[in-house]
Amino acid sequence: MAERFPVPTMPAPPVAVVGLGQLGGSLAAALVAAGRPVRGWDVDPAARDAAAARGVQISQELSGVVVLAVPLPVMATALDGLAVAGDATVTDLGSVKRPVLDTVGTALGGRFVGGHPMCGTERSGHTAADPGLFAGARWALCLEPGTDLSRWLRVAEIALAVGAEVVPVTAAEHDDAVAAISHVPHLLAAALAAAAGQAGPLALSLAAGSFRDGTRVIGSDPAFVRAMVEGNAAPTSAALARVQEQLARPWAELVGDGHAVVTREQGRRSVRVPLERAALLSLGRSGGAVTRRLAAFVEGYVPDPA
Ligand SMILES: NC(=O)c1ccc[n+]([C@@H]2O[C@H](COP(=O)([O-])OP(=O)(O)OC[C@H]3O[C@@H](n4cnc5c(N)ncnc54)[C@H](O)[C@@H]3O)[C@@H](O)[C@H]2O)c1
Repeated sequence: MAERFPVPTMPAPPVAVVGLGQLGGSLAAALVAAGRPVRGWDVDPAARDAAAARGVQISQELSGVVVLAVPLPVMATALDGLAVAGDATVTDLGSVKRPVLDTVGTALGGRFVGGHPMCGTERSGHTAADPGLFAGARWALCLEPGTDLSRWLRVAEIALAVGAEVVPVTAAEHDDAVAAISHVPHLLAAALAAAAGQAGPLALSLAAGSFRDGTRVIGSDPAFVRAMVEGNAAPTSAALARVQEQLARPWAELVGDGHAVVTREQGRRSVRVPLERAALLSLGRSGGAVTRRLAAFVEGYVPDPA
C-alpha cells in the first residue's frame, strides 16, 4: 500500500468571483454547491440577482481567492472601485494569458496566478451558468518564475473542488497551445460558415452534422471571439499558417494523418509530482494533469500509449 501523507486541515480560503456570467456564475454556483462560502460582484444587476438566488453573497468587499471572470477587454480594470483585501490571491479565467499577466500580473506581482478553464459553450451571460461546467475539464494554471507556489496551490484547490483537472503551464506556453486547439478552430469555423453562406441557400439547407460540428463555436458572441483571437494574435497567426500548410498537402495523406491524431488511443498512468515548479511544468508539458493535492506532493496522471 502506497504511503499517504495527511491532508492539511487548513480551512479553505473564501472565494470571491468578479463577473457572474457564464464562467463566473458557473464557478460561483459550483462552489456554493460544494459547501463553500462565495462572494460575488457583477456590473449587471440581473447577473447579481441570478447569483444571489444561487446562494452567492453579493458584495464589493473581496478576500481570500478573488477570481476575475470578466471579458478580456475589461480584465485590467475589473478590480477598480472594489475593496480587495491586501493579502488576497487574484486569479482570472481569461482565454488568453500573456496580456492578463502583463497587466493584472504586473500590478499584483506574486499575488496573481493566471488561469483558464478549458470549458464553456457558445452561449454567454448569467443565463448560461451551469454548476456542472467544470466537471472533468482541464484548467490551465500559470506557473511563472515569480509565481508564489502556495498561492498557485490555493487556486488549484478551487479548480479541483469543482471537478476540474489542473494543468500547470506558463502563460506563453498556454497561449501557443490554445492558439492551435481553440483560437484557430474559431477562425476556421468562421471561414467555413462564411464560405457556406457564399455557396447559397441550397448548400445551407442541406447542411447537417459535419457543418454543424465544424461551425458550432462561431455561434459565440463575436465580441468574445474577437477579443480572444486579437488578444493572442501572433500565436494564432503562426498556428493558422501551420493549418494552411496542411491544407496544401495531398488530400489522401492529410486525411490519413488527421484521422490518426483524433482516433489515437491513449491510456494514462498515475504519477506523484513534488510541489516544485519545474516538476509541475514538466507534468503539464507531457500532456498530464493534477487531480489531487496532498501535503508534500500532488497526484495526477500522464498520457501513456495504450
Ligand atoms: N465562454 C467561454 O467559452 C469561455 C471559456 C473559458 C474562459 N472564458 C473566459 O472567461 C471570461 C468570462 O467569459 P464568459 O463567457 O463568462 O463571459 P460572459 O459574457 O458570459 O460573462 C461576463 C460577465 O462579466 C460581467 N462584467 C463585465 N464587465 C464587468 C466589470 N467591469 N466588473 C464586473 N463584472 C463585469 C458581465 O456583466 C457578465 O455578467 C472571459 O475572460 C473569457 O475569455 C470564456
